[in-house]
Amino acid sequence: MKTEFRPARSNDASAISALIGRFTPDVVVNPDGSGAEEYLEAISESAEAGYISDPGYMFIVACHGPDLAGVIALRDRSHLFHLFVAPEHQRCGIATRLWELARAAALAKGKIAVFTVNSTLSALPVYERFGFLRTGPVTEAHGIRFVPMRLQPASLSFRTPPGNLRELVIESPRVRLVALSEAYTEEIFLNFSAEITLYMMPAPASDISDTRAFVSTALLELDRGDDLHFVICRRGNHEFLGVCGLHGTRRPDEPELGIWLKAQAHGNRYGREAISTLRDWAEQNLEFRRLIYPVDRRNIPSRRIAEALGGTIVEEKKVMSMSGNELDEVIYAIERGSA
Ligand SMILES: CC(C)(COP(=O)(O)OP(=O)(O)OC[C@H]1O[C@@H](n2cnc3c(N)ncnc32)[C@H](O)[C@@H]1OP(=O)(O)O)[C@@H](O)C(=O)NCCC(=O)NCCS
Repeated sequence: MKTEFRPARSNDASAISALIGRFTPDVVVNPDGSGAEEYLEAISESAEAGYISDPGYMFIVACHGPDLAGVIALRDRSHLFHLFVAPEHQRCGIATRLWELARAAALAKGKIAVFTVNSTLSALPVYERFGFLRTGPVTEAHGIRFVPMRLQPASLSFRTPPGNLRELVIESPRVRLVALSEAYTEEIFLNFSAEITLYMMPAPASDISDTRAFVSTALLELDRGDDLHFVICRRGNHEFLGVCGLHGTRRPDEPELGIWLKAQAHGNRYGREAISTLRDWAEQNLEFRRLIYPVDRRNIPSRRIAEALGGTIVEEKKVMSMSGNELDEVIYAIERGSA
């Protein structure tokens, strides 16, 4: 079943309060909740209903069929006030997607100097993965325990001012990387299938409106220079081959490479050519420490691409994809100037 992401409505208040309540033991200092009355009141159904109707708050919920799988809320666009994913829906990328959507919506309304969060101890690794840094020790106040954290939104750093990123074109002998645009929505929708996403974090779009939403978020990220999304075309006849990108939203000093090709284009070394062309362009045009290439252990063609660029494995972990497949991820780091 697919997870749907949408703004919260006032009648979600009860489910949101119940979901957050499940995490009370992680938050409060005393197991019986004594001393944390103010916190418990602040997550009651009536309090949640009040925030949802308050324009100073922005809520997005993740719904899995009739279940509320997760919720995120920002206060004043910059304080991460809630982020909770139900235990049975964790490790499926829902928190990451909620954060990406909330972050993009907040930044779309104007510049933000810093995002803040008071993290529970159990959520620290999640925020660290988003790029948040601890700004203080474990703190106990009003009967709850947390670690204050902050994240300075950063973009990919260009060596020279980038100009209009929507006009970016990078060419190699056989392929052209063209900045993503709405014109490719249908080809992306038709080709981003279950077969293609088998070893990928995202799930195929079940409706073209999901692909439209992906393209519009990608264009916002492109305009800000956070993430660069390209369509891979064949030089000469401009045939659509797939999509690749350089994603800096998490760590601009360690941008992530990503790629997929339509099934009919596999096995022609287009993947290798597109990624090595993007790497060469990035080395000439961006400031970064190294590139990151996450890939499933079983995805041999993709691993060969990372290895051909001199990638070495720096981390291994198991995560759930948005399609519900367990991914056995190996993370390659590709140092500047290697291979
Ligand atoms: C991963 C992907 C982009 C590779 O693109 P591609 O153009 O088909 O791959 P290439 O032709 O460039 O081949 C890359 C390497 O894999 C090898 N390879 C290809 N298919 C293989 C297979 N079935 N078994 C073993 N090796 C294989 C090639 O020989 C080549 O290695 P070499 O250059 O060292 O000889 C493509 O398979 C794809 O879109 N897959 C679905 C989406 C996906 O998984 N994306 C990556 C997420 S990390």
